[in-house]
Amino acid sequence: MKRRIKKQVYIVGIALILVIVFAIFIIRYINYRSTNTYQLKKLGYQKQEIAVIQKLETNQIKQIIGMEYNQSIIKFIKEKYFLFDNLERYLSYQKQEKDEDFTHVVSIVNVGADHEYYDKDFVTKTKTDLKDENLILVNKFHYLDKDFIPKDIVDIKNWYAYGENAIREIVYEQFLQMHKAAEEEGLKLIITSAYRDYEFQESLWNKYRRQNGIEWADSVSARAGYSEHQTGLTLDIITSGEGGGMNTFENTNEFKWLSKNAHKYGFILRYPKDKEDITGYAYESWHYRYVGTEVATKIYNLNITYDEYYAYYQKEIEG
Ligand code: DAL
Ligand code: ZN
Repeated sequence: MKRRIKKQVYIVGIALILVIVFAIFIIRYINYRSTNTYQLKKLGYQKQEIAVIQKLETNQIKQIIGMEYNQSIIKFIKEKYFLFDNLERYLSYQKQEKDEDFTHVVSIVNVGADHEYYDKDFVTKTKTDLKDENLILVNKFHYLDKDFIPKDIVDIKNWYAYGENAIREIVYEQFLQMHKAAEEEGLKLIITSAYRDYEFQESLWNKYRRQNGIEWADSVSARAGYSEHQTGLTLDIITSGEGGGMNTFENTNEFKWLSKNAHKYGFILRYPKDKEDITGYAYESWHYRYVGTEVATKIYNLNITYDEYYAYYQKEIEG
């Protein structure tokens, strides 16, 4: 009798253990099915791809789970200047333009160039944010109001510029230092254009349009309100020495010197060669934008345009 009871207790015990083990297994399986890893695997992502996605924030991973499997997503995430908020736009721009250069797609979309220039709806959302002060962005998607006049504009002495010109004080101070350093090496820098108000820019653009049509005018000149010259932070610099024209400037020693040294005084070359699709403008070896030495040095080292810098670093800082 005692033995039978013992046996029954034994069987019940074993059964109980089996039930518990099974229950644990079921619970763990249910839990596993709800994990991101499982969901991503089900969509078709491989282990290494999942590891890339797992580095994102939780809500971003959930958004990817809500999308179809796409290998391009992984390639975009791996890009240095990847911004999650732009992911859908990267994918649709790439599809539309059949652009397989992922780095290029990220640059184009980050700066907004997947939109038409001056696109009314987009431009309204991206209007120049004056809170950025010396780091304000003005391009074909970021404009200044007609009545925007920068503060502390000072006249530039005739010695340093052709014609009557003015510029923000901080920019003038930095230019003078840069001019002095260049002069010590026997180089002659001279300003051909500095602060330009809305009306002046309007007449300039119209002049170009009359000369060669809208498309050409847009590639070499900004429409009124869209010019960096209205910020008072930009200088067109050439040389008063040999090779004195704007179009010959890139072959001069002055240009070579600026290419290596301008950032030390807070200036960047704003429209570099072969970046027309990012900046919206043809190469200008003479157009220098003041952003301060710290940012200028960073941009110089990263070798990116200001539009790209602003989209990734400045906007991210602001949140
Ligand atoms: N030339 C530059 C793009 C301007 O007009 O501001
Ligand atoms: Zn210029």
